[in-house]
This record gives sequence, structure tokens and C-alpha cells, in this order.
Amino acid sequence: MTTLLILGGTTEANALAKAVSRQGIAAVYSYAGRVENPRPQPLPVRVGGFGGPEGLAAYIHENAITHVVDATHPFAARMSRNAIEACAATRTPLAALTRAAWVSQPGDVWRHVPDIAAAVDALSGDAQRVFLAVGRMHLEDFSTRPQHSYLLRLVDEPDTLPLPNAEVVVARGPFTEADDRALMQRQGTQLVVSKNAGGTGARAKLDAARALGLPVLMIDRPVLPKRTEFSQVAQVLDWLSHP
Ligand SMILES: NC(=O)c1ccc[n+]([C@@H]2O[C@H](COP(=O)([O-])OP(=O)(O)OC[C@H]3O[C@@H](n4cnc5c(N)ncnc54)[C@H](OP(=O)(O)O)[C@@H]3O)[C@@H](O)[C@H]2O)c1
Repeated sequence: MTTLLILGGTTEANALAKAVSRQGIAAVYSYAGRVENPRPQPLPVRVGGFGGPEGLAAYIHENAITHVVDATHPFAARMSRNAIEACAATRTPLAALTRAAWVSQPGDVWRHVPDIAAAVDALSGDAQRVFLAVGRMHLEDFSTRPQHSYLLRLVDEPDTLPLPNAEVVVARGPFTEADDRALMQRQGTQLVVSKNAGGTGARAKLDAARALGLPVLMIDRPVLPKRTEFSQVAQVLDWLSHP
């Protein structure tokens, strides 16, 4: 009997949950608990960290999990590393459901940086109007660059902000190029800072930046150890039926 654990919080995880539920495969969907109202799922949901790789291994054991699919965001590297370690320790088959990274197109003006720290370094210059699209968890890192006027788009209204000069738009994707272009024009955006998340839901800001001729500081993905990876839900279903 298969009992699947989906490490979620992404569009890909949601699509997998739908497919798994339709097929009647026993599964649990796991959220980190970062947003106030996570999307409902057609599967039992658990919320919150497991307590490192050891905690995840214990969860796998206690809940008789037979397979784990890591469908977390490409920047959720700690969770992905923990899953590799816990699945190795418990000999549980692990696959990742991933999305391709964004690739620049003609007209894009991208400067690549390897990580958040390098993005912070790159913002050491004069004040600019910056669309900082890095998510709530990393705003603190940019507090050493208070000279800029920031546009932030967040899923929930933040209680406090580590940036003195910031405007918050509360919204949840997917977004459209036309709306993002209008937003950036209204804000007088001069630079977009983006993680290379991939996928379609958050791509609009890059299309809008291209249309407006704006530069993008593109934070490349963390590198993870080699693992079984799929890009399609159907491939995961196939893997579950022929492990
Ligand atoms: N990072 C992003 O840009 C981004 C964007 C969109 C959505 N998300 C989603 O938000 C969640 C957190 O991302 P993050 O970047 O903070 O991850 P992270 O830095 O890799 O994870 C930090 C810790 O959060 C817990 N955690 C993360 N994902 C979890 C999950 N799906 N279920 C249970 N616990 C989880 C784990 O705690 P323990 O060690 O205690 O187990 C993990 O060690 C992920 O589910 C991810 O898919 C992230």
C-alpha cells in the first residue's frame, strides 16, 4: 500500500495533490505554515516543520510513509536537503517534482547573482525604486540597503517591515504581464530583483520588465545534491506505480 508524503507549498504540489486524490492514492500534503490561509487541498493536510531531517525521518516512520515527493519551491533548499537525508536514512523512495528555471530572452537585461547575499551586495549603490520580489522571508537581508524605495508584493500583510521606505502590495499569483507592467509604471520601478523561481505564475514581472526595458537582478537557484527529478505530474504518478 502506497502512502505518499507531498512536501508542498507550490503550484506543482497542488497539481500533484489533485491528481493523486483523483486516483485514490493515500497521501498527506505538508505545508511549512508560512502563509496565514494556505490553499485547501483535496488530501489530508499537515502544517509546520518536522524538526530537521531527524524529525522528518521520525514522521515517515510513525506515519508509515512509503514515498516522498519533494514538490517544494526551488529556493526551499533546506527542506529539500532534509528530505534527501531523511529518505536515505529511512530508505524511503524520494522524487522531486520541479520546474525549469527561467531563461533570458532577447530584450531581457538580466544580471545574474548566485544568492541573496550577492543580491544585497549588488544594491550598494545610489537610491533606486526597486521591485523586490524575493518573498517575506528574505526582506531582513535587504535592511542594510535602506536607501532604496522598495515595492514589495506579499501574500499576507506584514506586521512589521525591516525596510524603512517600502510600499506593500498584498496579492497572490498568478499575475499577468499587463497588470505587472501597470504596477511598475505606477511605481516608477527602475530595477526588479527576482529569484529564479521558474514556472508561469510569477513570470509576469519579467515579461513586464522586458516590455519596459528595465534591468533585472536575477538570483540563481541554490544547487542541490543529485536526486530523482520529474517535471510532470504524470511522471510522478508513473514512478509511484513502478517504483
Ligand atoms: N522559498 C521561496 O521562495 C518559496 C516560494 C514559494 C513557496 N515556498 C514554499 O514555502 C515553504 C517554505 O519555504 P522556505 O524557503 O522557507 O523553505 P526552507 O528554507 O527550505 O525550509 C526551512 C524549514 O521550513 C520547514 N519546511 C519547509 N517546507 C516545508 C514543508 N513543505 N512542509 C513542512 N515543513 C517545511 C522545514 O522545517 P524543519 O526543518 O523543522 O522540518 C525546513 O527546514 C516551502 O513549502 C516552499 O515550497 C517557498
